[in-house]
Amino acid sequence: MIVCHCNKVTSNDIDDAVCCLKRECPQAVLCPEDVYAELGACPQCCNCFPLAEKLIQESVLKFVAKSGFESGMNPALMPQNLA
Ligand code: FES
Repeated sequence: MIVCHCNKVTSNDIDDAVCCLKRECPQAVLCPEDVYAELGACPQCCNCFPLAEKLIQESVLKFVAKSGFESGMNPALMPQNLA
């Protein structure tokens, strides 16, 4: 799905960039500007930012769920292990 029409950024691009950035710095708090910079994109109208922020949050949660154990999170507290 296209998220940013100015830069042709897709939801998959955002997911990939979030994974890259979180691998480099697991404690990083990411905003659309950070993610777009990772993609070599430059925000223009910023109309996409509300959706981009939502997708970034979802990507961070996916990243933590996949790699939480490696990053020091207690696996018992990871979303997929909570009943
Ligand atoms: S739609 Fe993303 S910067 Fe314009």
